Amino acid sequence: MNGKPVAVITGASRGIGRAITVSLASSGFDIAAIARSLDSDGMEHLGQDVEKLNVSFFPIGLDISCTACHKEVVSNILERYGRIDFLVNNAGVAPLQRNDLLNLTEDSYDRVMNINLKGPVFFAQKIAREMIWLKDQIENYNPAIVFLSSVSAAMSSTTRAEYCISKAGLSMASMVFADRLSENGIIVYEVRPGVIQTDMTARVKDKFDKLIAEGFVPQKRWGMPEDVGRAVASLARGDWKFSTGAVFEISGGLSIRSL
Ligand SMILES: NC(=O)c1ccc[n+]([C@@H]2O[C@H](COP(=O)([O-])OP(=O)(O)OC[C@H]3O[C@@H](n4cnc5c(N)ncnc54)[C@H](OP(=O)(O)O)[C@@H]3O)[C@@H](O)[C@H]2O)c1
Repeated sequence: MNGKPVAVITGASRGIGRAITVSLASSGFDIAAIARSLDSDGMEHLGQDVEKLNVSFFPIGLDISCTACHKEVVSNILERYGRIDFLVNNAGVAPLQRNDLLNLTEDSYDRVMNINLKGPVFFAQKIAREMIWLKDQIENYNPAIVFLSSVSAAMSSTTRAEYCISKAGLSMASMVFADRLSENGIIVYEVRPGVIQTDMTARVKDKFDKLIAEGFVPQKRWGMPEDVGRAVASLARGDWKFSTGAVFEISGGLSIRSL
């Protein structure tokens, strides 16, 4: 059995997931890092950065939408570490092409929903079952689960409806997991980022540079992956133990409505 707490992060190779992984490693968690492929430079460099922090790094290749693959991955993590304390469901994609809602295709809808919603729901279900079992095996065990949604859970974008719908669904997934797992002592949070500078937003960078300069984000800057990484680490440290089901928005005030 691992002495240190163990964090599992999906979509760890780049962007927000990478920043969360480094923050959790800095907080003393051993790491199981998941990305679609292990071939990327991203995972190799992440491994080096994590191991410099004197914690262990276990890289895993998994397409999160492959629900039939989840069981083996969870078994491998438990075989390696013997425990899972903190799960971050971060992996997610934008549509390959922005299309008006009236031209939304079933292929794009299925791709986005399978990766952003179905995959995380069933992955969290498998890990939650293990966490319930581990509760009786480990002393001072305080498991928690985070779902990375988006301000798009509650803000409409008519040219990427499938993304908004998937994130609204993930927001409810967080609530029902929080509700169901409260009796098992497992805390569940939704983390809702705003506009964060990553590969996902690179293709709309010019548009958002302009919008941000015009005051679209009240705090007048891009969010950085580390803004989200620090916030998730504070959840993992147990600073928010009486807040299951809460939504933590990290958006520089994007949801403020002002007159
Ligand atoms: N950036 C933003 O402004 C923003 C705002 C709100 C919410 N979010 C959410 O935050 C999360 C991270 O976004 P990001 O901006 O950091 O994205 P990103 O830079 O595009 O990185 C996406 C990560 O997800 C992984 N991934 C993609 N598809 C996957 C799959 N099918 N199975 C497993 N892993 C997969 C990628 O792995 P590979 O390297 O192997 O491709 C990569 O590690 C997403 O859920 C996103 O919706 C982002």
